[in-house]
Amino acid sequence: MIKTDTYAVFGHPINHSKSPRIHRLFAEQTGQIIEYTAQDVSAESFAATSKQFFVAGGKGLNCTVPLKELAWQYADQLTERAHLAKAVNTLACQADGSILGDNTDGVGLLNDLTVNHGITLRGARILILGAGGATRGIIPPLLEQQPADLTIVNRTVSKAQIIAQDLATLGTIRTCDYTSLQGQQFDLILNATSASLSDQLPPLTDNLLCSGGSCYDLAYANQATAFVQWGVEHLAAHSLDGLGMLVEQAAEAFYIWRGIRPETTAIIKLLNDERQITNING
Ligand code: ATR
Repeated sequence: MIKTDTYAVFGHPINHSKSPRIHRLFAEQTGQIIEYTAQDVSAESFAATSKQFFVAGGKGLNCTVPLKELAWQYADQLTERAHLAKAVNTLACQADGSILGDNTDGVGLLNDLTVNHGITLRGARILILGAGGATRGIIPPLLEQQPADLTIVNRTVSKAQIIAQDLATLGTIRTCDYTSLQGQQFDLILNATSASLSDQLPPLTDNLLCSGGSCYDLAYANQATAFVQWGVEHLAAHSLDGLGMLVEQAAEAFYIWRGIRPETTAIIKLLNDERQITNING
């Protein structure tokens, strides 16, 4: 009997994860037979649980909050983008049994911005809110697009400065605190803070977004996040949340594991339609 290849997403909390649904839709679409589950795994038990998973024949893991840095440490080898991100969201068991760590968040964001929404990054003035792990992961692919400039704003500026120094070989990264943003304007503002998770908004001043500019929240929710609302109120051409990025980073992980790239447009539409129904039905 052929054993079904098994995959899982580990994180804490994990009960609202859309990853099992997304990967099952990918498998259906591409005719792949896989099993994909969600498991609540704490930081303390991550290494032991991952080892158990791979020893039992597991083929690949997605790792989410708060496990991405631990997954980075756990991997036997890292891709260049995971090395730079200092965070891993995808682990893949290789033919020789070693575990490869990759980070598909950056390319997921890039695909959603440029392919799905037609937002041009070349020559754009980009502002990233926040200086945590998410910011580190998205900067390399953004700089590859040759924006006019890229600024990280953070309450704790020293954290932004460390990221700018670590990634200095990739391009110039400016850093500042929120009060220094006064008088500046950007074509694209990306919210990579964890503020949306508690329905908060970073302290943004008016006039930050230039006419025709766009806002993108890396977080997603069934309702518009506080930052997506801010973008709408400030007349953004696009004010988007991270549902598309979630599907795109999953597609890249699926490709790493299965060698087939799923088509994402219909799946993003399906998930978007479903949450609109959830909203209407309360
Ligand atoms: P992650 O690894 O997911 O990016 P993190 O490392 O905890 O998460 O980073 C969270 C980021 O959100 C930080 O940059 C944090 O700012 P500080 O470094 O100054 O703490 C930022 N953040 C969280 N809540 C915020 C809020 N209400 N307003 C502005 N920034 C916020």
